[in-house]
Amino acid sequence: MKATSGHSLHPAERAGNTIEALRKAAMDCRACPLWEHATQTVFGEGPSHASIMLVGEQPGDREDLTGHPFVGPAGQLLARALAMVEIPHEDVYITNAVKHFKFEVRGKRRMHKKPADAEIAACYGWLRREIELVAPRLLVALGATASRSLLGRATPITVNRGKLHEYAPGISLLITVHPSFLLRVPERDRDEEYDRFVDDLKLARPFLH
Ligand code: URA
Repeated sequence: MKATSGHSLHPAERAGNTIEALRKAAMDCRACPLWEHATQTVFGEGPSHASIMLVGEQPGDREDLTGHPFVGPAGQLLARALAMVEIPHEDVYITNAVKHFKFEVRGKRRMHKKPADAEIAACYGWLRREIELVAPRLLVALGATASRSLLGRATPITVNRGKLHEYAPGISLLITVHPSFLLRVPERDRDEEYDRFVDDLKLARPFLH
């Protein structure tokens, strides 16, 4: 089924057949209102035929300013966890379910705001084409927004994490928590939650190459 917004074709469907063409087309996306206040579209990055694709929620403050996914605190934690399971960061494709930063201004700070279902749905056209073009063997959904985008419905993370699901024929799906969750858990639980995250990511290792 083609991803459409209203009756018109999603802009991702009109872009060329390479990840570079898709990235370029996404820079001008107006499929939902989030583009208006964000600095720029933050598109996925990594090898164009990576066997593992990690999907986060949306760019944060640092990502919005730099234009690169997972370069802030959550990204640093993710990089550490990937290193622990011996998945080289440069071998995976990293993207987000929503490609513009959604935030609320409080004082001088831009505070992350969870994307709405309609925004996740509007952005799925880009993610769907990224998956088609990169053709990974494994998708890793980091948190509830990524799971929602990929499965098209809300999914309890705690029940579904740490096991392999099928996204589509030939493409497995691993669900786990978002690294920013680990930054928010009470200190006393942090090591245990981090170890669980690493255990989940170990399931991705066999999909490398
Ligand atoms: N959180 C995400 O989900 N994605 C990013 O790129 C950064 C933080």
